[in-house]
Amino acid sequence: MIAIRSCSGFDEMTACVRLQIETWGYDASDVLPRKAFLLAQRIGGQVIGAFDTGIAGSAKGGPGALVGYALSWPGMKTGKGEPRAYLHSHMLAVREGYRNRGLGAQLKQEQRREALERGIRHMEWTFDPLEVKNAFLNLHKLGAIARRYEVNFYGTSSSRLQGGLPTDRLVAEWELDSPRVEAALDGRPPTAHVIEECIQVPASIRQWKASDAERGRAVAVQLENRGKFQQAFSKGLAVIGFTRDAEGNGVFELGPLAQAEASFKSQGM
Ligand SMILES: CC(C)(COP(=O)(O)OP(=O)(O)OC[C@H]1O[C@@H](n2cnc3c(N)ncnc32)[C@H](O)[C@@H]1OP(=O)(O)O)[C@@H](O)C(=O)NCCC(=O)NCCS
Repeated sequence: MIAIRSCSGFDEMTACVRLQIETWGYDASDVLPRKAFLLAQRIGGQVIGAFDTGIAGSAKGGPGALVGYALSWPGMKTGKGEPRAYLHSHMLAVREGYRNRGLGAQLKQEQRREALERGIRHMEWTFDPLEVKNAFLNLHKLGAIARRYEVNFYGTSSSRLQGGLPTDRLVAEWELDSPRVEAALDGRPPTAHVIEECIQVPASIRQWKASDAERGRAVAVQLENRGKFQQAFSKGLAVIGFTRDAEGNGVFELGPLAQAEASFKSQGM
């Protein structure tokens, strides 16, 4: 009943904007307008939607059926070697009642399929390392790695998911046709890797961020983990895995960057 495809036309883009506001609760200073979505698609990015065709009157999809979307913009890596085009995926949202049924992962897989079809082999996005679910999706289910930590990346955010905390972010790197990513998407374990350090996130952090009384605990975890990530990355480690324990606490697994890069080599390289 769920169709995943590129959005088209003004009304489907407007539906993405509505779902954006519903998901993050952004005010006017943060919300991306429809023209940012339209342009993304025009300049080589992606606006991919998940449509529930079972909703009355939506058998063909359309704006009333939109229950999720992924938005990306094209970027260019410069530096050593030839400039390399890649996609920066800025937003992934699934409507609340449709979550935890694999739609987020399906939207990412469609981003990957569409990018590879155009010869784009690398995608990045940022995510809040205090969100256990997002870390699990990005690092475990999709096979991304992270080796960069950005302090207060977007400045103050009106996102209700942020709870007023600094917008610290990890940068997820997704090498689209690497054996590592293929294994993760097939549900196979990655090749054995050495874990040198672990960084933990308590399961309750989401509630702490949302509660005036407990926000201080979330701030303390953010500060402590910020230092740990920065120190680990400065000595050549990268996040190469993520697990959850029985209580739902998250564990970032860090190992040598060279090892992550080896598992990340694109098939054609
Ligand atoms: C993040 C988001 C897009 C994921 O969409 P989704 O459709 O629920 O994702 P999926 O169902 O594909 O995958 C979620 C996985 O996390 C797991 N999960 C759910 N709650 C979890 C938790 N508290 N801790 C760890 N893992 C959790 C699910 O079980 C599922 O794994 P499984 O398929 O192995 O069972 C959705 O939750 C959302 O819109 N969140 C708000 C906006 C946001 O944070 N966007 C992402 C910015 S990077």
